[in-house]
Amino acid sequence: MSTPRARIIGTGSFLPEKRMTNDELAKIVDTSEEWISSRTGILERRIAAEGEVTSDLAAAAGLKALAAAGCAPEDLDLIICATSTPDLVFPATATIVQRKIGAQKAKAPAFDIQAVCTGFVYALGIADQFVRSGMSKKVLVIGAETFSRIVDWEDRTTCILFGDGAGAVILDSAPGGSTQGILSTHMHADGSHVELLRVTGGVSHGRPEGFDWRHDALGFVDMQGNEVFKQAVKAMGSVAEEALAANGLTINDVHWFIPHQANRRILQATAKRINLPEDRVVTTVDHHGNTSAASVPLALDEAVRDGRIQPNHLVLLDAFGGGFTWAAALIRW
Ligand code: ACO
Repeated sequence: MSTPRARIIGTGSFLPEKRMTNDELAKIVDTSEEWISSRTGILERRIAAEGEVTSDLAAAAGLKALAAAGCAPEDLDLIICATSTPDLVFPATATIVQRKIGAQKAKAPAFDIQAVCTGFVYALGIADQFVRSGMSKKVLVIGAETFSRIVDWEDRTTCILFGDGAGAVILDSAPGGSTQGILSTHMHADGSHVELLRVTGGVSHGRPEGFDWRHDALGFVDMQGNEVFKQAVKAMGSVAEEALAANGLTINDVHWFIPHQANRRILQATAKRINLPEDRVVTTVDHHGNTSAASVPLALDEAVRDGRIQPNHLVLLDAFGGGFTWAAALIRW
């Protein structure tokens, strides 16, 4: 008997209400609308309200995905949340989401995945394995972030890039013999470049002198943008090719390419590297900025809801982030 394939039966997303434009950023740091839009393609991003935490965004996106899938919260038998900006050090944001969406009755496992901007594609790959093994049937996979809480608002090289948001999908096992669903997932990491992209503090490094646990952040996003740019294009290009080759497909078979939305120039350079016309790249970086683990499911949900993605389309998800980590998922919709 062949193993069941996982398929996505519903998508959802959520963005905080507050928009921040480039002109507003230019009042905070030494930058301009022109520099940000021409170097990154970002026009605006959303910023979580005071007291609005990652699990709030994640739960709202999760509920929309459940509604789209026609499932009740108690139908879920696994919740995975990809985030680098959890509400708390512990418990996992996924468990807080479980309570917020009213899924706790099922007592299903819930845990977080941390692979920075690659987090959602990693989480999808893990969920796919749970469904294929028969361990889980209905899985909620979320990517959710409040990066506005970990950027240094005095550092113009990073604070202009990021935004807050959440995206989610519901996985179910596809009927036997179905050609639709997740065809394969491919995940990689190379820990030799930690210094190029990281948050400068963390729990086990302890607290610097004068640190006020109640008020001070644990650290800020620190990035060598130029170097990350080059590595991102190379890694996203190669994992896209790996996913296609594993399924005996070519780039001409791909209807929609949904890369991590880091920077419009990275999206363009990656598409060029894999010979994909730009009109098949789903782009949301202009209105979302870089939402890290939320960027791929946010873009996916947008393309599903506006009708671009249709049954039997071939959809290629691709992401790159701190670690470095990178991953792809090839899906027959
Ligand atoms: N406004 C005005 N000038 C700026 C700004 C700004 N916001 N930021 C940098 N500059 C200046 C720099 O100081 C530099 O000035 P100098 O030449 O006088 O030294 C000049 O602009 C050029 O800087 P670069 O860093 O070379 O600019 P670049 O074209 O590389 O763009 C950017 C920078 C947008 C950060 C780009 O490198 C990038 O997008 N990198 C990738 C980011 C990414 O992919 N992250 C993905 C993962 S994120 C994650 O995992 C959390």
